[in-house]
Amino acid sequence: MAEVVSRCHRNLVVFWMTMAVELLLLLSVCPEITPPRRTNLGDATQQPRAVKLIKENEQVVIDNGLVRVTLSTPDGFVTGIQYNGVENVDDKYQYSLEDKDNKVHGWMVANPPVGFWMITPSDEFRVGGPIKQDLNSHTGPVNLNMFVSTHYAGIDMDLEYKQGEPWKKVFGPFLVYLNSARSPGNYSTLWGDAKRQMLEEVRSWPYNFVASPDFPPADQRGQVFGQLVVADGYVSNKPIFAKGAYVFDLMPQLAYRNLGNGDYKAATWQIAFQLQNVLHTGNYTLQLALASASYAKLQVRFNDPNAPEPEFETPGRIGFDNAIARHGIHGLYRFYSIQVPSNKLRKGSNTIYLTQSLSTTPFQGVMYDYIRFEEPGQ
Ligand SMILES: *[C@@H]1O[C@H](CO)[C@@H](O)[C@H](O)[C@H]1NC(C)=O
Ligand SMILES: *[C@@H]1O[C@H](CO)[C@@H](O)[C@H](O)[C@H]1NC(C)=O
Repeated sequence: MAEVVSRCHRNLVVFWMTMAVELLLLLSVCPEITPPRRTNLGDATQQPRAVKLIKENEQVVIDNGLVRVTLSTPDGFVTGIQYNGVENVDDKYQYSLEDKDNKVHGWMVANPPVGFWMITPSDEFRVGGPIKQDLNSHTGPVNLNMFVSTHYAGIDMDLEYKQGEPWKKVFGPFLVYLNSARSPGNYSTLWGDAKRQMLEEVRSWPYNFVASPDFPPADQRGQVFGQLVVADGYVSNKPIFAKGAYVFDLMPQLAYRNLGNGDYKAATWQIAFQLQNVLHTGNYTLQLALASASYAKLQVRFNDPNAPEPEFETPGRIGFDNAIARHGIHGLYRFYSIQVPSNKLRKGSNTIYLTQSLSTTPFQGVMYDYIRFEEPGQ
């Protein structure tokens, strides 16, 4: 890319680190511009919203009817973000994504036209697997590289060491990549250049310059071959290739009811269904999978919302992932297989009552992944 005139030499900018770092970019000139993490091209038939640019004395407002961004002039600082009329919706959790997708992120600025990027070519050393979510940048601008955290997971995924326990783990390497463009008008090319550099790093993984014996070079790494198939009798009688079996069937979240005076009340979700016949050959089974839980207690009742003893109750308070407050689409997965004696059901209309019964703070809630109600086997 011709516009990028100076590129730091790798030896200068590769940091070999054994702890998480937060690098603060102390550039007072930076407007807070971050490249889109994911571009949602949306439905092609949908009309795009008209964008209005309003120039005032000390600020410029960009408004598309849904999102309104205010920038100070002439500095270009973001001084306000409004979404649907609600002020200051920008917060650090809007800059997060699943670890498997977190390969390059950072900041760029038009004047002077420079970019500051965190390139992480492999997810192999991060804790929590490919769909653990974490932060990438902060407004500020701050550039993070998170290796371990309880974000979107809670203490269930915390690392704990016994006193005196020897422990060793490799984090990295990752690349801190700085680039610059010829003129302010060219600064948007910095993002494309950062992505190009990321692909180069991904191709070079595992790096051959790492001297530590704890980082296995390419010729000491194994490979796994095989075919992963998913057997799900509800979808198909034949095994499904894993590639085609990725299902994301996200249900509504259930938190609490806000009474508007600082108090919250337990919230109940009702699922109404019809049964032509009740089978008495064994128990029915409610398969209940949660995508997230935070300080929650879930109770399940059948046909009587006020039954003093729920048919099922999660063991104690569950979950610390805080995925709802962190705008996540999932935290940690939880699965409950609940036995329901047939005498709890009746011919005709039935209702399942799912109650999130703890409601002392606004951070309590669960997010459903899927719910399936099964007849007893014949
Ligand atoms: C970069 O800026 C120069 C002049 O400032 C302009 O001639 C050129 O077209 C720009 N290139 C791109 C890719 O925007
Ligand atoms: C049916 O469910 C009840 C209540 O959970 C349980 O006590 C019983 O063992 C179950 N019966 C069978 C056959 O699984």
